Amino acid sequence: MSHDEDFFEPSSWDERYSSPDKMWSGNANPQLVAEAGRLEPGTALDLGCGEGGDVIWLARQGWTATGADFSAKGLERAAAHAAEAGVAERCDWWQVDARTFEAGGRTFDLVTTHFLHPPEGSITEVVRRLAPAVAPGGHLLVVGHAPSATFHHHDEKRLRAMWHSADLVPVLEELGGFEVLVAEERPRTVTRDGREMEIEDATLLARHTA
Ligand SMILES: C[S@@+](CC[C@H](N)C(=O)[O-])C[C@H]1O[C@@H](n2cnc3c(N)ncnc32)[C@H](O)[C@@H]1O
Repeated sequence: MSHDEDFFEPSSWDERYSSPDKMWSGNANPQLVAEAGRLEPGTALDLGCGEGGDVIWLARQGWTATGADFSAKGLERAAAHAAEAGVAERCDWWQVDARTFEAGGRTFDLVTTHFLHPPEGSITEVVRRLAPAVAPGGHLLVVGHAPSATFHHHDEKRLRAMWHSADLVPVLEELGGFEVLVAEERPRTVTRDGREMEIEDATLLARHTA
């Protein structure tokens, strides 16, 4: 199967993570550093953790971090990177599909997800599923690519999977028990294939007040 034929399924990501090269930089995502850097470390869940850069950063800051992803190959890589970084004992791993995620009574002081982009706007359903995993007083941080002309080369399905932070606010309002602290698009410059690109991180940060 080619990458783009079934971009939204675990087989496609397993194939990507089976290539010999690292896919991501291994650096933590900037909105995680900006927001979790202000919080007292506790327990964290990173859904769609990929190769584990954010989980390793959290562990280094003193969090006990669970990396979750639907790709077994991604999780294998993340666990290997955590061992290389010397933080394996602060990390654990959970193979789970965000589209059917159920916290099952587990709660975390921070629940975070970066660049997950499930199909057709279903990020709202993912947020609905993640909310019960946030401990009282804990935080939910959801970051993705806001749609923009920068991504014009993506196919329709991938474009429709991008979202704005404001799309997520009504879900938390409906659920209740959350105070929205940040709902904004944060611009930044990235380099892809040697070219500088302007993108915007759609960023939602909320605190579980109940
Ligand atoms: C673009 S990568 C981002 C990885 C990491 N969060 C980062 O920012 O570097 C998206 C990740 O989400 C995972 N993913 C995509 N859809 C998923 C789903 N429905 N459930 C769980 N993981 C998913 C992929 O396997 C991949 O590791």
